[in-house]
Amino acid sequence: MTWETKYKSLELQKPDVYELEGLEVGVTSNCNFKCDYCCAYQRNDGQSISGSEVVRIIDEIPTLKRVRLSGGEVTLKYEDCLEIVAHCTSKGIATQLNTNASLLNAGRIERLRDAGLTNIHISFNFTNAEQFAAYYRIHPRIYEKITENIRLCTEAKLETVLETLLFAETQNNMREIGDKVYELGVRIHEIQNSIVMNHSSWDAIASREALIRSVQELIAHKKDDTVLYFTCMDRFAEALGFREQPGVYFSHCVDGKKQLHLHGNGDILICELCRPVVIGNIYEGTVLKNIYTHKPEPLKQFLAKLPCPAYDALFPSSQR
Ligand SMILES: C[S@@+](CC[C@H](N)C(=O)[O-])C[C@H]1O[C@@H](n2cnc3c(N)ncnc32)[C@H](O)[C@@H]1O
Ligand code: SF4
Ligand code: SF4
Repeated sequence: MTWETKYKSLELQKPDVYELEGLEVGVTSNCNFKCDYCCAYQRNDGQSISGSEVVRIIDEIPTLKRVRLSGGEVTLKYEDCLEIVAHCTSKGIATQLNTNASLLNAGRIERLRDAGLTNIHISFNFTNAEQFAAYYRIHPRIYEKITENIRLCTEAKLETVLETLLFAETQNNMREIGDKVYELGVRIHEIQNSIVMNHSSWDAIASREALIRSVQELIAHKKDDTVLYFTCMDRFAEALGFREQPGVYFSHCVDGKKQLHLHGNGDILICELCRPVVIGNIYEGTVLKNIYTHKPEPLKQFLAKLPCPAYDALFPSSQR
């Protein structure tokens, strides 16, 4: 059975040719959660961008194949998200909406599906309400709301990806989390390697031993009708003995090579997660459709070295 998603296909080929095919849009940097690991750039800085403005920008990039709406919690600007998704659908551009799923309901899910959203991507790190509530310091009923919304997404036949951050808090629990993902009716599980960012002091990333054990365990217990995407592990997958197989993918990192991040104030970043370097601003002369023919200096420097904090964390220079 093949479950590879249209949205993910960009990450399944080596990004040898640099071209702007993916745009991540920080529709808003506000959020109703306060996760300590959060990678959002300048989080809660109040910056946001309207749906019609994003549509205008998208129309100026002829090479675009996919758009990811992320933040912040973008469902705080639900109608803007809907407008962007519907426009992308009309142009054959794949879309993903990254959300904590706490602000969804049946009506909102159905409208996203009807607008043609390619997939909904939901953070999922805990297997019960008590652990969830203790970690996030949020009321346990929010966990029930999130799991109910996950079920509603699958029932609505909206392609659903649950994403688990592999970090200190989840590293001894990954198999149980994988089982819970399955129990919720979701067949696509993304494992996001945790990244230390230079714009945050958070550093509870997974240990090398736990990462190896978790990946091996998840692959060994994978069911035939599920797909696993391991993200931010491609630079060292081979060195750790990980192998792709049908339904198991070590996604290629496309950040800076095929994908850039647009912040609500027009800033263009290489990657919000690990490279929040502002390489330009669309309101100050940066033209996205020409970004790879007239590369800004920080982008040139990034492409010359292709630094990766995920690799550096597991293979410190002293041990290489
Ligand atoms: C910043 S959140 C925005 C979308 C939504 N609010 C959510 O939490 O899913 C986007 C994704 O970034 C991931 N993320 C956050 N902090 C991270 C970190 N330090 N390392 C790796 N991924 C991280 C989260 O797991 C989440 O799936
Ligand atoms: S829910 Fe998402 S955007 Fe909000 S704080 Fe958590 S990781 Fe950051
Ligand atoms: S460069 Fe950044 S986004 Fe790419 S794999 Fe490394 S940590 Fe992940």
